[in-house]
Amino acid sequence: MSSKRITNIAHRGASSYAPENTFSAFDLALDIGVNDIELDVHFTKDHHIVVIHDDTVNRTTNGIGYVSEMTLDQLKKLDAGSWFGKDFADQRISTLTEILDKYCGQLNFHIEIKARNVPGLASETCDMVKKYGIENDVVITSFWKEWVEETKSYSPEIKTGWLVPLGPGSQWNDRFVDEAIEAEFNQLCPRAELITPTLVNKIKNGGLEVRCHGVFDEDLMIKAVECGVDGMTINFPDKLRDYLSENGYLID
Ligand code: G3P
Ligand code: CA
Repeated sequence: MSSKRITNIAHRGASSYAPENTFSAFDLALDIGVNDIELDVHFTKDHHIVVIHDDTVNRTTNGIGYVSEMTLDQLKKLDAGSWFGKDFADQRISTLTEILDKYCGQLNFHIEIKARNVPGLASETCDMVKKYGIENDVVITSFWKEWVEETKSYSPEIKTGWLVPLGPGSQWNDRFVDEAIEAEFNQLCPRAELITPTLVNKIKNGGLEVRCHGVFDEDLMIKAVECGVDGMTINFPDKLRDYLSENGYLID
């Protein structure tokens, strides 16, 4: 039996069971018993930081348009739950402040700087993290290396993770490990399908944690665990919780 620790991160909340990035998905993650949630942030037109995955509201609300071209008031009027199920019609897009107000002290936050053209979003997210005094409870991530670098240079006390920008079907390239070590990030985050024991060792030998994503089914989940990752984002954290406890892992 292993006693290895693995961080079980509810991806956009428990997003297999409730609309992603809403209170309902984060509440469910808490009910499932995880300590960590992942969420995506964007700037609104009037410069609030809001929690939503896509650049537009089209997929996850009853509205249409770019988040960056809408004010917070406009976004707040949208139904962010009915697309998932009629019982979630009361769900709204939240600000990062609202999420931190509600879950600060109960959860760790893996905050992804989602948009491409958002200079200052990483720094302002760091400011908010510092305002809440939760520097030790946060990892700031992005597929865009420059936002991870912005985080690192603006707030070196906050952990950083680089989401490896390789899409489905891509071949691994060791340059990502070299670049992450050079940049002194804390985590490298490859897609689960790219994870191998060799890659895990390479990343860990470079002094970084391996936190994978894109865990679309239980086979990938088990493969990632067996390869030795330190953590993963997952839409069904209850299944990871059960697998880890049945197999003698400690859950962070
Ligand atoms: O854990 C990282 C993951 O959230 C990145 O992909 O598209 O779900 O934001 P995405
Ligand atoms: Ca994300």
